[in-house]
Amino acid sequence: MKTTIKEAKQYLNQEVTIGAWLTNKRSSGKIAFLQLRDGTGFMQGVVAKAEVAEEIFKLAKELTQESSIYITGVISEDDRSDIGYEMQVKSIAVISEAHDYPITPKDHGTEFLMDHRHLWLRSKKQHAVMKIRNEIIRATYEFFNDNGFTKIDPPILTASAPEGTSELFHTKYFDEDAFLSQSGQLYMEAAAMAHGRVFSFGPTFRAEKSKTRRHLIEFWMIEPEMAFCEHAQSLEVQEQYVTHVIQSVLTNCKLELNVLERDTSKLEKVTTPFPRITYDDAVVFLKEQGFDDIEWGEDFGSPHETAIANHYDLPVFITNYPTKIKPFYMQPNPENENTVLCADLIAPEGYGEIIGGSERINDLDLLEQRINEYGLDAESYSYYLDLRRYGSVPHSGFGLGLERTVAWLSGVDHVRETAPFPRLLNRLYP
Ligand code: 4AD
Ligand code: MG
Repeated sequence: MKTTIKEAKQYLNQEVTIGAWLTNKRSSGKIAFLQLRDGTGFMQGVVAKAEVAEEIFKLAKELTQESSIYITGVISEDDRSDIGYEMQVKSIAVISEAHDYPITPKDHGTEFLMDHRHLWLRSKKQHAVMKIRNEIIRATYEFFNDNGFTKIDPPILTASAPEGTSELFHTKYFDEDAFLSQSGQLYMEAAAMAHGRVFSFGPTFRAEKSKTRRHLIEFWMIEPEMAFCEHAQSLEVQEQYVTHVIQSVLTNCKLELNVLERDTSKLEKVTTPFPRITYDDAVVFLKEQGFDDIEWGEDFGSPHETAIANHYDLPVFITNYPTKIKPFYMQPNPENENTVLCADLIAPEGYGEIIGGSERINDLDLLEQRINEYGLDAESYSYYLDLRRYGSVPHSGFGLGLERTVAWLSGVDHVRETAPFPRLLNRLYP
């Protein structure tokens, strides 16, 4: 019977064959322990000299790291294994022998591992991070499908800038200038006027010269947009969505969280509602905490966000930022016209901003005024203004950065390990 490591538990005490790679091995004169992986999981194969043909034992002892094999044996229970079972090997057939695999069980520096990202993905921890990423994506589709959202795909090649012009990737579009999408939001607003509740999930590009553990040049963003939705209601959707994702990862990625040695106690505590603090109160709080550098009207940096998040030890919404440090499309706060109806969701444990969201301006005149004030070309936003010309409604939306969320839930401290092939300031390879 041909099976996989993950499915092998259904074949306890039966003989199966699995296509696998050898990740590591340990052997003595009488026994060889083969560490196997097959994409679905990791498992030990035990080769006892007394139980197998002589040439099989010899082969097991000589097998090189990352050689590919078909391995046949009986699945047996094993309490010491994190999956609960192993294989008592009977035979091995080599598919392809590997020599001098660059990533050995010893420690390698990060740059070396990043240069070998195409191989590093095979390692147990990197495999676990990608599984958690996949679970977040799965839970995202589940949440939005279950809550009446339609998935709409905005374009990647665009003519205008939603989030300010300084971070755009420029490219030629035949004879025209084009930019890689830095957010699908403006198109999602159009989609919300057609479908009510919509979400997108796609790549996003920011030509930011930031070299921090939270910044990628290319990242994936989930962008829901809701018609007839005020900002307060959007915050409720956000906290329900994030809580659903956490619960899904805690339930379905136990093995992976264990491999990553993630302390899940803080994740387990997360429930709705999340704490909310206004930008104004956050400035006062930061000053009390001894941050003398922050003045009202300035954006918060990582240390500020971390200090606020540490205070709550939960994801926290910082609401109503000053208008002038936010993009042109945000609805003014009726209680203080110098601020807007927006929120950033800050993850605990120092993982930083994972969501940016807001209510959008729905008044045509005000939106035109803002486009002028921000020095944007009104003509390229004509389609966006149409949404205010023809049946404008209050609407809100947000964007969640996938990689930062993966980093937080997996407990890895740099986003470069949360994308399969991260695009970083000085890295386009592999
Ligand atoms: O706060 P941002 O820039 O918001 C928007 O783009 C809005 N148009 C979203 C919307 O309302 N539809 O980005 C949203 C999120 C951030 O909170 C962060 O999680 C992630 O995207 N993000 C990045 N992730 C990795 N690397 C970068 N350089 C990122 N920039 C933003
Ligand atoms: Mg933001």
